[in-house]
Amino acid sequence: MDENGKIWMDGKFIDWKDANIHILSHVIHYGSSVFEGIRSYEINGKVGVFRLKKHVKRLFESMKIYHMNIDYSQKEIAKVIKDTIRINNLKESYIRPIVYRGYGTFGVDPTNSSTSIAIAVWSWGAYLGGDAVEKGVDVGVSSWVRLAPNTLPSLAKSGANYMNAQLAKLEAKQNSFDECIMLDHNGFVGEGSGENIFFVHDNKLYAPSISSSILKGITRDSVIKIAKDLGYEVSEEKIPREMLYISDELFYTGTAAEITPIRTVDRITVGNGKVGSVTKSIQNEFFNIIKGKTEDKNNWLDIF
Ligand SMILES: Cc1ncc(COP(=O)(O)O)c(C=O)c1O
Repeated sequence: MDENGKIWMDGKFIDWKDANIHILSHVIHYGSSVFEGIRSYEINGKVGVFRLKKHVKRLFESMKIYHMNIDYSQKEIAKVIKDTIRINNLKESYIRPIVYRGYGTFGVDPTNSSTSIAIAVWSWGAYLGGDAVEKGVDVGVSSWVRLAPNTLPSLAKSGANYMNAQLAKLEAKQNSFDECIMLDHNGFVGEGSGENIFFVHDNKLYAPSISSSILKGITRDSVIKIAKDLGYEVSEEKIPREMLYISDELFYTGTAAEITPIRTVDRITVGNGKVGSVTKSIQNEFFNIIKGKTEDKNNWLDIF
């Protein structure tokens, strides 16, 4: 991270080192934040933000679930995100808008707490390691289960949800895996600690449905569209664990992980252990779009 940069907080650009909050802020004690992860790419010397409007919309949906309000519209936040990239002189960046309950009242009841928003951007390379996107990763099914539907809502990208994700990630690291796969409370496949998952079986794609306690990933949505455009059938449904072992190909999707193939699950080789042809064709199309090499016919890139 470039600690000389500026972070936007509640209407002002602040020096990186001064972008702090009070230790008694509600968010620190009760996990009361919702956030986004967005990427921008360099396209012919310009900046292209991938699916900016959709990410900002999801941020506002997360806020709605938790009864949070800010004084800015979706359009204004999208503009500030672009201003933050500009002021930090970045082209390829990871963008983190976060809405959080601040300092003022104490106790679980958030009714009278203040709500703030901050936006930070920095350079962030491959999330799951240098050659993960080309070679794939080794993963394990976690003993930690995704949030049951009537506990914490998965469709909200809230800070608190990532306590569950951290437990699964820690366990994966302790078992020398690169990443985890969590099942839902009924034993069906959910997702990784910060990624959605896709299966390829008999040339057809499968993705766990939103009823399996997943985040409704924006890369997931993009991949479904790309796969259908390439002529593949895609089904969103409840997926039993054993599909992880018999699938021909598996891959993660996410803003940070982009499209990362999975090489082994629980030390069992996926397909022939190489990146499969379906994964490759979807990766190619995705990377061509974000690098500006293919026409952006869905208007996914906000270029400036
Ligand atoms: C738990 C979880 N699932 C899925 C995803 C992928 O979502 P997206 O493609 O919108 O980044 C993320 C990343 O944000 C995540 O944290």
